[in-house]
Amino acid sequence: MKVWEIRDDWSMEHLVPGERAKPAPGPGQVLLRMKAASLNFRDLVVPKRGYGALTGTLPLIPISDGVGIVEAVGEGVRRVAVGDRVCPLFMPHFHGGEPNAERLTRTLGGPIDGVMAEWMVLDEGGVSRVPGHLTDEQAATLPCAALTAWTALVTCGAIKAGDRVLVQGTGGVSLFALQFARMAGAHVIVTSSSDEKLERVKAMGADAVVNYRSVPEWGKIVREMAGGEGVDHVVEVGGEQTLNQSLRAIRIGGTISLIGVLSGGSLDVKLGPIVTRHVRLQGITVGHRDGFEAMARAIGQHGLLPVVDRVFEFGELREALAYLASGRHFGKICLRHPQG
Ligand SMILES: NC(=O)c1ccc[n+]([C@@H]2O[C@H](COP(=O)([O-])OP(=O)(O)OC[C@H]3O[C@@H](n4cnc5c(N)ncnc54)[C@H](OP(=O)(O)O)[C@@H]3O)[C@@H](O)[C@H]2O)c1
Repeated sequence: MKVWEIRDDWSMEHLVPGERAKPAPGPGQVLLRMKAASLNFRDLVVPKRGYGALTGTLPLIPISDGVGIVEAVGEGVRRVAVGDRVCPLFMPHFHGGEPNAERLTRTLGGPIDGVMAEWMVLDEGGVSRVPGHLTDEQAATLPCAALTAWTALVTCGAIKAGDRVLVQGTGGVSLFALQFARMAGAHVIVTSSSDEKLERVKAMGADAVVNYRSVPEWGKIVREMAGGEGVDHVVEVGGEQTLNQSLRAIRIGGTISLIGVLSGGSLDVKLGPIVTRHVRLQGITVGHRDGFEAMARAIGQHGLLPVVDRVFEFGELREALAYLASGRHFGKICLRHPQG
């Protein structure tokens, strides 16, 4: 079968097409005929071994997110049946409950082989069915980006109607956060570096927008946009250049979900106001299967459509990653598998 592999050394130049034997499912396992994949920011980090030892060993099949059809099942499989359309879970060993090292670190697309293969074999516990109204490309966006936004706002954030939410940027996680916040009946403020992208989020229902490039001190403005008190939730993907602004924008008792460090990963920050304003800083690492299944039900119930910017062919992985790195995208970048 056709695969993409990071082979011989850790670099983008060593990300190459290859061939492997088609796998067969053992007891408790499922064989998926893969249909589509989607890219996340981490897929630019993995080929450079950016997560150190947690990135895995070579050769490695990259990319965490995809969708496939169950083509065969091993003995004793009960959770899914032949013909079901399922996503491999980003953290196939995190089914629910509290996080621990094994649950959080055994992730697809590094250190475990990812979805850029025509077929995959997974434990039946490591896959979940997807809503029927989605195209394969849309369904392929759910395991990391969508679940991260869901975990931040719903599982950990307990968002409710009337809440005020700040979403940073217009990448994969952020547009799902906008959509889930709207679904929950929240007031949503979005930042972006691009006025054109801000027009697009307004069309998706954002209540207020700020260009973080032309207004670098946007924290106070966002606070005013949120009735002067500040927002209840921040979906924080910027890190170094955004957290101090988020701390200005958050209300007393609000929650900042720390998800990404797009602008850098260390920071000089005044801790006093976090204490005296009772702010919760919540680290988020994707999420568990229970969360995925709750999210899939909500997406099905509301007919939510993930925002797919562009679809590349399986053989165009390197072009698709270069497009992701350019930052020109709005939402998700997807790939169609040879049998997609
Ligand atoms: N913790 C987790 O579980 C988890 C899961 C998924 C992703 N992440 C992290 O979350 C971040 C976003 O991931 P993604 O896959 O959604 O990335 P992505 O699709 O590549 O989105 C990147 C977007 O973020 C915006 N951005 C960049 N720098 C910014 C800044 N300084 N302030 C505000 N927005 C900024 C830009 O939006 P505009 O073009 O609109 O300016 C850019 O298009 C990454 O750091 C990723 O590693 C973490």
